[in-house]
Amino acid sequence: MGWLHWERFMCNIDCDTDPNNCISENLYMQMANIMVTEGWKEAGYEYVCIDDCWPSHQRDAQGRLQADSKRFPSGIKKLADYVHSKGLKLGIYADLGTKTCGGFPGSLGYYDIDAQTFADWGVDLLKFDGCYMKWNLLGEGYTNMSIALNKTGRSIVYSCEWPLYEWPYHQPDYSAIRKACNHWRNSMDVEDSWASVKTILEWTADHQNVIVPVAGPGGWNDPDMLVIGNFGLSHAQQESQMALWAIMASPLLMSNDLRDICPRSKELLQNRHIIAISQDPLGKQGYRTAKVNNFEVWERPLSGGRLALAVMNKYETGGPRGFPLTLATLPSWKICTPQCNVTQVLPSYKELGIQTLLSKLVVAINPSGTALLSIAPLKGDLKNQWLLWKDV
Ligand code: DGJ
Repeated sequence: MGWLHWERFMCNIDCDTDPNNCISENLYMQMANIMVTEGWKEAGYEYVCIDDCWPSHQRDAQGRLQADSKRFPSGIKKLADYVHSKGLKLGIYADLGTKTCGGFPGSLGYYDIDAQTFADWGVDLLKFDGCYMKWNLLGEGYTNMSIALNKTGRSIVYSCEWPLYEWPYHQPDYSAIRKACNHWRNSMDVEDSWASVKTILEWTADHQNVIVPVAGPGGWNDPDMLVIGNFGLSHAQQESQMALWAIMASPLLMSNDLRDICPRSKELLQNRHIIAISQDPLGKQGYRTAKVNNFEVWERPLSGGRLALAVMNKYETGGPRGFPLTLATLPSWKICTPQCNVTQVLPSYKELGIQTLLSKLVVAINPSGTALLSIAPLKGDLKNQWLLWKDV
Protein backbone atom coordinates (compact mmCIF):
# COMPACT_ATOMS: atom_id res chain seq x y z
CA MET A 1 0.00 0.00 0.00
CA GLY A 2 1.25 3.44 -0.81
CA TRP A 3 1.29 6.32 -3.22
CA LEU A 4 2.72 6.51 -6.76
CA HIS A 5 2.98 9.75 -8.70
CA TRP A 6 2.25 8.66 -12.28
CA GLU A 7 -1.47 8.96 -13.06
CA ARG A 8 -1.92 12.28 -11.25
CA PHE A 9 1.40 14.05 -11.93
CA MET A 10 2.63 12.25 -15.07
CA CYS A 11 5.83 13.66 -16.60
CA ASN A 12 5.42 17.23 -15.41
CA ILE A 13 9.02 18.46 -15.20
CA ASP A 14 8.30 22.15 -15.54
CA CYS A 15 9.09 23.37 -12.06
CA ASP A 16 9.44 26.97 -13.24
CA THR A 17 5.79 27.35 -14.18
CA ASP A 18 4.29 24.62 -11.98
CA PRO A 19 6.49 24.29 -8.88
CA ASN A 20 3.76 22.62 -6.80
CA ASN A 21 2.99 19.82 -9.19
CA CYS A 22 6.23 19.08 -10.98
CA ILE A 23 8.25 15.90 -10.39
CA SER A 24 10.64 17.12 -7.70
CA GLU A 25 11.83 16.11 -4.26
CA ASN A 26 9.34 18.56 -2.74
CA LEU A 27 6.42 16.59 -4.11
CA TYR A 28 7.47 13.34 -2.40
CA MET A 29 8.43 15.10 0.82
CA GLN A 30 5.04 16.77 0.98
CA MET A 31 3.23 13.49 0.30
CA ALA A 32 5.33 11.75 2.98
CA ASN A 33 4.46 14.46 5.52
CA ILE A 34 0.75 14.17 4.80
CA MET A 35 0.83 10.41 4.83
CA VAL A 36 1.90 10.67 8.45
CA THR A 37 -0.23 13.60 9.61
CA GLU A 38 -3.48 12.69 7.86
CA GLY A 39 -3.86 9.08 8.91
CA TRP A 40 -2.64 7.42 5.69
CA LYS A 41 0.30 5.70 7.33
CA GLU A 42 -1.88 4.51 10.17
CA ALA A 43 -4.35 3.08 7.64
CA GLY A 44 -1.51 1.06 6.09
CA TYR A 45 -0.22 3.23 3.22
CA GLU A 46 3.55 2.94 3.49
CA TYR A 47 5.39 3.37 0.17
CA VAL A 48 5.98 6.80 -1.39
CA CYS A 49 6.85 6.00 -4.99
CA ILE A 50 8.57 7.94 -7.72
CA ASP A 51 7.60 7.05 -11.31
CA ASP A 52 9.17 8.12 -14.62
CA CYS A 53 10.94 11.44 -15.34
CA TRP A 54 13.05 11.76 -12.19
CA PRO A 55 16.57 11.19 -13.62
CA SER A 56 19.00 13.45 -15.30
CA HIS A 57 19.53 12.74 -19.00
CA GLN A 58 23.19 11.89 -18.25
CA ARG A 59 24.63 9.09 -16.09
CA ASP A 60 27.55 10.17 -13.87
CA ALA A 61 31.24 9.41 -14.54
CA GLN A 62 30.87 5.96 -12.92
CA GLY A 63 27.89 5.14 -15.13
CA ARG A 64 25.36 5.58 -12.32
CA LEU A 65 21.92 7.08 -12.75
CA GLN A 66 21.56 10.43 -11.07
CA ALA A 67 18.51 12.51 -10.26
CA ASP A 68 17.86 15.73 -12.14
CA SER A 69 19.85 18.18 -10.03
CA LYS A 70 17.47 21.09 -10.42
CA ARG A 71 14.39 19.18 -9.34
CA PHE A 72 16.13 16.92 -6.79
CA PRO A 73 18.89 19.19 -5.40
CA SER A 74 19.41 16.95 -2.33
CA GLY A 75 19.57 13.70 -4.35
CA ILE A 76 17.65 10.46 -3.89
CA LYS A 77 19.66 9.20 -0.91
CA LYS A 78 18.64 12.27 1.12
CA LEU A 79 15.06 11.84 -0.03
CA ALA A 80 15.09 8.20 1.07
CA ASP A 81 16.51 9.25 4.46
CA TYR A 82 13.73 11.78 4.80
CA VAL A 83 11.00 9.30 3.87
CA HIS A 84 12.50 6.74 6.28
CA SER A 85 12.60 9.32 9.07
CA LYS A 86 8.81 9.44 8.73
CA GLY A 87 8.58 5.67 9.14
CA LEU A 88 7.73 5.26 5.43
CA LYS A 89 9.46 3.60 2.47
CA LEU A 90 10.67 4.98 -0.85
CA GLY A 91 9.94 3.53 -4.29
CA ILE A 92 11.80 4.44 -7.48
CA TYR A 93 11.32 3.78 -11.20
CA ALA A 94 13.58 2.56 -14.00
CA ASP A 95 13.18 0.80 -17.35
CA LEU A 96 14.75 -2.40 -18.62
CA GLY A 97 15.27 -1.07 -22.16
CA THR A 98 17.45 1.62 -23.68
CA LYS A 99 15.20 4.48 -22.50
CA THR A 100 12.30 4.96 -20.09
CA CYS A 101 8.92 5.51 -21.74
CA GLY A 102 9.41 9.22 -21.03
CA GLY A 103 12.80 9.24 -22.83
CA PHE A 104 15.15 9.24 -19.81
CA PRO A 105 18.15 6.85 -19.56
CA GLY A 106 17.16 3.17 -19.55
CA SER A 107 18.90 0.44 -17.56
CA LEU A 108 19.85 -1.91 -20.42
CA GLY A 109 23.51 -2.81 -19.90
CA TYR A 110 23.46 -1.31 -16.38
CA TYR A 111 21.28 -3.70 -14.34
CA ASP A 112 23.95 -4.46 -11.71
CA ILE A 113 25.06 -0.85 -11.38
CA ASP A 114 21.49 0.43 -11.14
CA ALA A 115 20.38 -2.20 -8.62
CA GLN A 116 23.41 -1.38 -6.47
CA THR A 117 22.81 2.37 -6.79
CA PHE A 118 19.20 1.96 -5.67
CA ALA A 119 20.29 -0.23 -2.75
CA ASP A 120 23.01 2.30 -1.76
CA TRP A 121 20.44 5.07 -1.77
CA GLY A 122 18.17 3.05 0.53
CA VAL A 123 15.39 2.49 -1.98
CA ASP A 124 12.68 0.01 -0.89
CA LEU A 125 10.76 -0.64 -4.13
CA LEU A 126 11.63 -0.62 -7.81
CA LYS A 127 9.00 -0.24 -10.53
CA PHE A 128 10.72 -1.57 -13.65
CA ASP A 129 9.05 -0.48 -16.90
CA GLY A 130 9.42 -2.26 -20.26
CA CYS A 131 9.67 0.45 -22.93
CA TYR A 132 12.35 0.41 -25.64
CA MET A 133 13.09 -3.31 -25.36
CA LYS A 134 12.60 -6.16 -27.84
CA TRP A 135 9.62 -8.16 -26.58
CA ASN A 136 11.45 -11.49 -26.82
CA LEU A 137 14.12 -10.22 -24.40
CA LEU A 138 11.64 -9.17 -21.71
CA GLY A 139 11.91 -12.44 -19.77
CA GLU A 140 15.69 -12.36 -19.71
CA GLY A 141 15.76 -8.66 -18.76
CA TYR A 142 13.22 -8.87 -15.93
CA THR A 143 14.88 -12.01 -14.55
CA ASN A 144 18.36 -10.47 -14.69
CA MET A 145 17.23 -7.36 -12.84
CA SER A 146 15.65 -9.60 -10.21
CA ILE A 147 19.00 -11.36 -9.78
CA ALA A 148 20.81 -7.99 -9.64
CA LEU A 149 18.44 -6.72 -6.94
CA ASN A 150 18.88 -9.88 -4.87
CA LYS A 151 22.65 -9.58 -5.18
CA THR A 152 22.57 -6.23 -3.39
CA GLY A 153 21.30 -7.95 -0.24
CA ARG A 154 18.76 -5.16 0.33
CA SER A 155 15.10 -6.04 0.55
CA ILE A 156 13.55 -4.23 -2.42
CA VAL A 157 9.99 -4.87 -3.62
CA TYR A 158 10.22 -5.60 -7.35
CA SER A 159 7.28 -4.27 -9.37
CA CYS A 160 7.35 -5.47 -12.99
CA GLU A 161 5.49 -4.68 -16.21
CA TRP A 162 6.69 -7.83 -17.94
CA PRO A 163 3.30 -9.39 -18.82
CA LEU A 164 1.84 -6.09 -20.02
CA TYR A 165 4.50 -5.84 -22.72
CA GLU A 166 4.42 -9.56 -23.57
CA TRP A 167 0.66 -10.17 -23.94
CA PRO A 168 0.47 -8.59 -27.43
CA TYR A 169 2.77 -11.40 -28.68
CA HIS A 170 1.88 -14.45 -26.61
CA GLN A 171 0.65 -15.65 -23.22
CA PRO A 172 3.35 -14.80 -20.67
CA ASP A 173 4.92 -17.45 -18.46
CA TYR A 174 3.37 -16.51 -15.13
CA SER A 175 5.35 -18.98 -13.05
CA ALA A 176 8.58 -17.34 -14.26
CA ILE A 177 7.07 -13.90 -13.60
CA ARG A 178 6.03 -14.86 -10.09
CA LYS A 179 9.50 -16.23 -9.40
CA ALA A 180 11.19 -12.96 -10.38
CA CYS A 181 8.69 -10.26 -9.39
CA ASN A 182 6.62 -9.22 -6.37
CA HIS A 183 3.86 -7.68 -8.42
CA TRP A 184 3.28 -7.27 -12.10
CA ARG A 185 1.16 -5.12 -14.38
CA ASN A 186 -0.93 -7.12 -16.85
CA SER A 187 -3.06 -4.58 -18.59
CA MET A 188 -3.23 -1.03 -19.90
CA ASP A 189 -2.38 2.08 -17.87
CA VAL A 190 -5.23 3.28 -15.68
CA GLU A 191 -6.66 6.68 -16.52
CA ASP A 192 -8.86 8.94 -14.45
CA SER A 193 -12.12 7.68 -15.97
CA TRP A 194 -14.83 5.10 -15.37
CA ALA A 195 -14.26 3.74 -18.88
CA SER A 196 -10.65 2.96 -17.95
CA VAL A 197 -11.55 1.28 -14.64
CA LYS A 198 -14.21 -0.83 -16.41
CA THR A 199 -11.75 -1.86 -19.14
CA ILE A 200 -9.23 -3.06 -16.55
CA LEU A 201 -11.91 -5.03 -14.70
CA GLU A 202 -13.12 -6.59 -17.93
CA TRP A 203 -9.56 -7.56 -18.91
CA THR A 204 -8.98 -9.09 -15.50
CA ALA A 205 -12.20 -11.11 -15.54
CA ASP A 206 -11.52 -12.27 -19.11
CA HIS A 207 -8.08 -13.58 -18.10
CA GLN A 208 -8.88 -14.72 -14.57
CA ASN A 209 -8.32 -18.40 -15.25
CA VAL A 210 -4.72 -17.61 -16.17
CA ILE A 211 -3.83 -14.86 -13.69
CA VAL A 212 -5.78 -15.57 -10.49
CA PRO A 213 -4.11 -18.89 -9.56
CA VAL A 214 -0.64 -17.31 -9.65
CA ALA A 215 -1.40 -14.60 -7.09
CA GLY A 216 -0.57 -15.12 -3.44
CA PRO A 217 1.73 -13.87 -0.69
CA GLY A 218 4.95 -12.71 -2.33
CA GLY A 219 3.49 -12.14 -5.81
CA TRP A 220 0.44 -10.19 -6.93
CA ASN A 221 -1.35 -9.13 -10.09
CA ASP A 222 -1.33 -5.35 -10.36
CA PRO A 223 -4.33 -3.74 -12.11
CA ASP A 224 -2.59 -0.34 -11.68
CA MET A 225 -3.12 2.67 -9.46
CA LEU A 226 -6.18 3.78 -7.52
CA VAL A 227 -7.38 7.03 -9.09
CA ILE A 228 -9.77 7.77 -6.22
CA GLY A 229 -9.74 11.42 -5.15
CA ASN A 230 -9.10 12.85 -8.63
CA PHE A 231 -11.49 14.25 -11.22
CA GLY A 232 -12.91 11.49 -13.39
CA LEU A 233 -14.88 9.12 -11.14
CA SER A 234 -18.19 9.73 -9.39
CA HIS A 235 -18.28 8.71 -5.74
CA ALA A 236 -20.08 5.46 -6.60
CA GLN A 237 -17.40 4.72 -9.21
CA GLN A 238 -14.68 5.41 -6.65
CA GLU A 239 -16.40 2.92 -4.34
CA SER A 240 -16.38 0.40 -7.18
CA GLN A 241 -12.67 0.84 -7.77
CA MET A 242 -11.86 0.50 -4.07
CA ALA A 243 -14.10 -2.56 -3.62
CA LEU A 244 -12.91 -4.39 -6.73
CA TRP A 245 -9.23 -3.60 -6.12
CA ALA A 246 -9.73 -5.19 -2.67
CA ILE A 247 -11.41 -8.22 -4.24
CA MET A 248 -8.53 -8.53 -6.74
CA ALA A 249 -5.93 -8.56 -3.92
CA SER A 250 -4.29 -5.73 -5.77
CA PRO A 251 -1.49 -3.52 -4.48
CA LEU A 252 -3.21 -0.33 -3.27
CA LEU A 253 -1.08 2.41 -4.77
CA MET A 254 -2.98 5.67 -4.88
CA SER A 255 -2.19 8.27 -7.50
CA ASN A 256 -3.86 11.45 -6.34
CA ASP A 257 -3.01 14.70 -4.59
CA LEU A 258 -3.09 14.03 -0.86
CA ARG A 259 -2.65 17.78 -0.26
CA ASP A 260 -6.06 18.40 -1.76
CA ILE A 261 -8.46 15.48 -1.52
CA CYS A 262 -12.16 15.55 -0.69
CA PRO A 263 -13.14 14.10 2.69
CA ARG A 264 -15.38 11.39 1.18
CA SER A 265 -12.59 10.06 -1.03
CA LYS A 266 -10.20 10.13 1.90
CA GLU A 267 -12.65 8.24 4.08
CA LEU A 268 -13.14 5.64 1.35
CA LEU A 269 -9.39 5.16 0.81
CA GLN A 270 -8.89 4.81 4.55
CA ASN A 271 -11.91 2.54 5.13
CA ARG A 272 -10.47 -0.11 7.44
CA HIS A 273 -13.10 -2.73 6.55
CA ILE A 274 -12.20 -2.55 2.85
CA ILE A 275 -8.47 -2.45 3.63
CA ALA A 276 -8.87 -5.55 5.81
CA ILE A 277 -10.42 -7.38 2.83
CA SER A 278 -7.67 -6.12 0.51
CA GLN A 279 -4.86 -7.15 2.85
CA ASP A 280 -6.44 -10.42 4.02
CA PRO A 281 -3.64 -12.77 5.16
CA LEU A 282 -4.96 -15.76 3.21
CA GLY A 283 -3.76 -13.83 0.14
CA LYS A 284 -6.13 -15.34 -2.40
CA GLN A 285 -7.20 -13.17 -5.31
CA GLY A 286 -10.93 -12.94 -6.03
CA TYR A 287 -12.66 -13.45 -9.38
CA ARG A 288 -15.90 -12.75 -11.20
CA THR A 289 -18.49 -15.45 -10.64
CA ALA A 290 -21.51 -14.16 -12.50
CA LYS A 291 -22.94 -11.56 -14.82
CA VAL A 292 -26.65 -11.04 -14.24
CA ASN A 293 -28.31 -8.47 -16.45
CA ASN A 294 -26.16 -5.41 -15.86
CA PHE A 295 -24.77 -6.59 -12.54
CA GLU A 296 -21.50 -8.39 -11.93
CA VAL A 297 -20.83 -10.62 -8.93
CA TRP A 298 -17.25 -11.09 -7.68
CA GLU A 299 -16.04 -13.25 -4.79
CA ARG A 300 -12.83 -13.42 -2.79
CA PRO A 301 -12.11 -16.21 -0.30
CA LEU A 302 -10.81 -14.77 2.97
CA SER A 303 -9.01 -16.21 5.97
CA GLY A 304 -11.09 -18.02 8.60
CA GLY A 305 -13.33 -19.51 5.92
CA ARG A 306 -14.89 -16.09 5.29
CA LEU A 307 -15.84 -14.63 1.95
CA ALA A 308 -15.91 -11.14 0.46
CA LEU A 309 -18.64 -10.57 -2.09
CA ALA A 310 -18.90 -7.60 -4.42
CA VAL A 311 -21.90 -6.83 -6.59
CA MET A 312 -21.32 -4.09 -9.13
CA ASN A 313 -24.23 -2.28 -10.71
CA LYS A 314 -23.27 -1.45 -14.29
CA TYR A 315 -26.44 0.46 -15.10
CA GLU A 316 -25.51 4.06 -15.64
CA THR A 317 -29.01 5.49 -15.55
CA GLY A 318 -31.66 5.90 -12.88
CA GLY A 319 -31.14 5.58 -9.15
CA PRO A 320 -30.06 2.79 -6.81
CA ARG A 321 -31.25 -0.65 -7.91
CA GLY A 322 -32.05 -3.53 -5.61
CA PHE A 323 -30.08 -6.69 -6.32
CA PRO A 324 -31.68 -9.84 -4.90
CA LEU A 325 -29.03 -11.96 -3.29
CA THR A 326 -30.04 -15.52 -2.58
CA LEU A 327 -27.20 -17.01 -0.58
CA ALA A 328 -28.05 -20.52 -1.83
CA THR A 329 -27.17 -19.50 -5.39
CA LEU A 330 -23.63 -18.35 -4.58
CA PRO A 331 -20.84 -20.61 -5.85
CA SER A 332 -19.63 -20.55 -2.23
CA TRP A 333 -23.08 -21.27 -0.80
CA LYS A 334 -21.64 -23.74 1.71
CA ILE A 335 -20.40 -20.83 3.77
CA CYS A 336 -23.98 -20.26 4.92
CA THR A 337 -24.57 -23.88 5.92
CA PRO A 338 -26.04 -23.87 8.42
CA GLN A 339 -25.70 -20.14 9.07
CA CYS A 340 -23.54 -17.15 8.32
CA ASN A 341 -23.05 -13.65 9.57
CA VAL A 342 -23.32 -11.00 6.88
CA THR A 343 -21.87 -7.49 7.06
CA GLN A 344 -22.34 -4.86 4.39
CA VAL A 345 -19.17 -2.76 4.02
CA LEU A 346 -20.25 -0.64 1.04
CA PRO A 347 -22.14 1.52 0.11
CA SER A 348 -22.55 2.03 3.86
CA TYR A 349 -21.53 -0.10 6.83
CA LYS A 350 -24.43 -2.25 8.07
CA GLU A 351 -24.60 -5.44 10.10
CA LEU A 352 -27.06 -7.62 8.19
CA GLY A 353 -26.92 -10.23 10.91
CA ILE A 354 -27.31 -13.98 10.91
CA GLN A 355 -28.55 -15.48 7.67
CA THR A 356 -29.21 -18.96 6.34
CA LEU A 357 -29.06 -20.52 2.92
CA LEU A 358 -32.66 -19.61 2.40
CA SER A 359 -32.20 -15.95 3.22
CA LYS A 360 -33.02 -13.57 0.44
CA LEU A 361 -31.22 -10.29 0.89
CA VAL A 362 -31.81 -7.30 -1.31
CA VAL A 363 -28.87 -4.93 -1.55
CA ALA A 364 -29.39 -1.46 -2.98
CA ILE A 365 -26.57 -0.44 -5.31
CA ASN A 366 -26.00 2.98 -6.84
CA PRO A 367 -25.50 3.30 -10.63
CA SER A 368 -21.91 2.25 -11.43
CA GLY A 369 -21.43 1.59 -7.74
CA THR A 370 -20.71 -1.59 -5.84
CA ALA A 371 -22.08 -3.32 -2.76
CA LEU A 372 -19.31 -5.01 -0.81
CA LEU A 373 -20.25 -7.67 1.73
CA SER A 374 -18.24 -9.77 4.11
CA ILE A 375 -19.70 -13.16 5.00
CA ALA A 376 -18.48 -15.26 7.93
CA PRO A 377 -19.57 -18.87 8.48
CA LEU A 378 -21.29 -19.69 11.74
CA LYS A 379 -21.04 -23.25 12.86
CA GLY A 380 -24.35 -23.99 14.49
CA ASP A 381 -26.64 -26.75 15.50
CA LEU A 382 -28.15 -28.42 12.45
CA LYS A 383 -31.32 -29.22 14.37
CA ASN A 384 -31.88 -25.51 14.98
CA GLN A 385 -31.14 -24.89 11.37
CA TRP A 386 -33.93 -27.26 10.41
CA LEU A 387 -36.29 -25.35 12.67
CA LEU A 388 -35.26 -22.14 10.96
CA TRP A 389 -35.87 -23.61 7.53
CA LYS A 390 -39.30 -24.85 8.57
CA ASP A 391 -40.17 -21.30 9.59
CA VAL A 392 -39.31 -20.11 6.10
C1 DGJ B 1 4.16 3.07 -18.74
C2 DGJ B 1 3.67 2.51 -17.44
O1 DGJ B 1 2.73 1.49 -17.68
C3 DGJ B 1 3.08 3.62 -16.58
O2 DGJ B 1 2.55 3.11 -15.39
C4 DGJ B 1 4.14 4.67 -16.31
O3 DGJ B 1 5.15 4.10 -15.51
C5 DGJ B 1 4.71 5.17 -17.62
N1 DGJ B 1 5.13 4.10 -18.49
C6 DGJ B 1 5.87 6.10 -17.36
O4 DGJ B 1 6.47 6.51 -18.53
